[in-house]
Amino acid sequence: MDFRGAHIISVNQFGRDDIEKVFTVADNMELYAHRQRITRVLDGAILGNMFFEPSTRTRMSFGCAFNLLGGHVRETTDVKTSSISKGESLYDTARVISGYSDVIVMRHPQVGSVAEFSKASRVPVINGGDGSNEHPSQALLDLYTIKKELDFKNREIDGMHIAMVGDLKHGRTVHSLSQLLLLYKNIHFTLISPEELKMPAEITKKLQESGHSVLETTNMEAGLSDNDTLYLTRIQEERFTSKLEADIYRGQFRLNQAIYTRNCQPNTVIMHPLPRDSRNDANELDNDLNQHPNLAIFRQTDNGVLIRMAMFALILDIDDKVEDSSSSVSWYTERRFE
Ligand code: NCD
Repeated sequence: MDFRGAHIISVNQFGRDDIEKVFTVADNMELYAHRQRITRVLDGAILGNMFFEPSTRTRMSFGCAFNLLGGHVRETTDVKTSSISKGESLYDTARVISGYSDVIVMRHPQVGSVAEFSKASRVPVINGGDGSNEHPSQALLDLYTIKKELDFKNREIDGMHIAMVGDLKHGRTVHSLSQLLLLYKNIHFTLISPEELKMPAEITKKLQESGHSVLETTNMEAGLSDNDTLYLTRIQEERFTSKLEADIYRGQFRLNQAIYTRNCQPNTVIMHPLPRDSRNDANELDNDLNQHPNLAIFRQTDNGVLIRMAMFALILDIDDKVEDSSSSVSWYTERRFE
């Protein structure tokens, strides 16, 4: 795909070479993310960061990524304080905000809302999560993390075994990650969830049709053996009709040191998109694993900044100008004043 000026709505837009490109640019961002070098390549550019659902990591890491490239960030963080609460349409909001910004990141509770919003936007829009549907930047950072963790162990993404655990019905991160893995070969998926919270059938069908093997189970301990990666998720309480309904499933699947040691290969990488629900009745990923060398959750969040810097660099077409940022403003503007 051509990243320049593109909206990023779904992982289905990517080919394997696109992913490689994002990862290469992300690698080059490390010095800037670690403040060992400074770039002002996006000096004067504005990110419209529009979050109509709770977010800490995604919102802040997109914001930090833009700042690290020298750009400025403007945010809305609440439906109540935005004009959407006065009945404004996504179309009008998009027309307005895209007049203020050079690129927009949007999170919204409704499936398909970000795609709809992007149609009216005059600048590129990145999907920061649309309801239970997709979360493409999270999938990219998850896969980037998996690749780095497996490289370290001389393993590859092709042929790996991954277990996804928890609320696979509503979790947009697992929807995007598994669809991104469609591009790879011979992956073995173990999908561990309550019967009612299984991965949507259209996704498992696509995985099987692409030659991957899929095992669905409600038995966590049985599903944990023989994996390169475990990807745990939170019960997505906000997608249920009531907290009481979510309570039925909360705490059913928990990973702690004892369960890990008893069931997992010693090399198994532990991932979670975060936030992990650390309340006693949930505690899907126990703090007693915090010092475990295979716990990659904070490497995931660090990698998120690199991946998001890479996304901005490619979409705004400045990936080859980062080093020489003394040159004048150069980001992608063609769509802005059409
Ligand atoms: C996830 C999300 O919002 O989908 N969080 C994130 O962006 N890292 C996962 C979650 O909220 O459970």
